[in-house]
Amino acid sequence: MSVSVTIDGTAVSVAEGSTILEACREIGSEQPTLCWVSTLTPVNVCRVCVVEVEGSRTLVPSCSRAVENGMVINTDSERVRHSRKMVLEFLDSSADLSNSEMAPWMERYGVDSSRYGPRSGPHDDRDDRHAGHHPEPDGLVAETVDQPVKVDNALYIRDYASCILCYKCVQACGEEAQNTFAIAVAGRGFDARISTELDTPLTDSACVFCGNCVGVCPTGALQFRSEYEMRRAGIWNEAEQSVTRTVCSYCAIGCNLELHVQDNRIVKVTSPLDHSVTHGNLCIKGRFGYDYVQELGDLAVSPIDEVLRAARSDND
Ligand code: SF4
Ligand code: SF4
Ligand code: FES
Repeated sequence: MSVSVTIDGTAVSVAEGSTILEACREIGSEQPTLCWVSTLTPVNVCRVCVVEVEGSRTLVPSCSRAVENGMVINTDSERVRHSRKMVLEFLDSSADLSNSEMAPWMERYGVDSSRYGPRSGPHDDRDDRHAGHHPEPDGLVAETVDQPVKVDNALYIRDYASCILCYKCVQACGEEAQNTFAIAVAGRGFDARISTELDTPLTDSACVFCGNCVGVCPTGALQFRSEYEMRRAGIWNEAEQSVTRTVCSYCAIGCNLELHVQDNRIVKVTSPLDHSVTHGNLCIKGRFGYDYVQELGDLAVSPIDEVLRAARSDND
């Protein structure tokens, strides 16, 4: 059965149970999203996707609200623009969004987080704070989640200064994909943060290094070590990368891989979200077991090889 709605003056019919976001996409109208990804149950925590529904007292999250027959939806009213601007300003004032895909939206809504004052920091590891002990804010700076990058293994890093607490990594590590539960939210209020059990390094935690959390992180807070080190070396260049879809050769399940290749080197591996079996998820072998493909010994050593080898040997 289909449901008819009107979005910004355009009539559209979509299948019953579709979300407003899906109906928007049906007519080519993109909406900003951070905590939503098609493979996970919406948790409605970021609120950047809100739209106005005629007759509704509050703005509604388009990523999770199902369409109803006759709904009149406005995605670009003054109220929507104002709300999205405020959400993005608050997030941008406390976390580093420079590796997210929000820049065009921030420009569109005139986001200016500097009006909250200079950013606080640098801070020590937020996991070291005592629960319930909050230094009184002096009102002169905007508090941030700034803290040093956690680099404790060769496969991926955790830069929680960019974390917006969208919970996607927790969902992916937990019952929605990996069922490993290596990471969860610790702390309360502004001290809330993603952490391992007892703040152990990933190598001592329950983590099985599938990288599925990295695959869904919207801000680059979780980053493949290869990408992180190449960015630091100034040689990460997405414009020069090609992405080739292939099938993992490690076992008979046949997961699909997306090989991101720069200068003839695999620099990271992702998995297509639209795959009916794996839904963007992989295991450690498919995600990270690609070194052998490009181990060319002394025959060829590119700057990428040097950076990647150094990163891997750093944690041997
Ligand atoms: S790599 Fe896999 S097991 Fe480890 S924290 Fe991420 S989702 Fe969980
Ligand atoms: S680390 Fe990334 S995926 Fe996890 S809560 Fe933070 S922003 Fe979301
Ligand atoms: S994307 Fe809809 S609430 Fe976050």
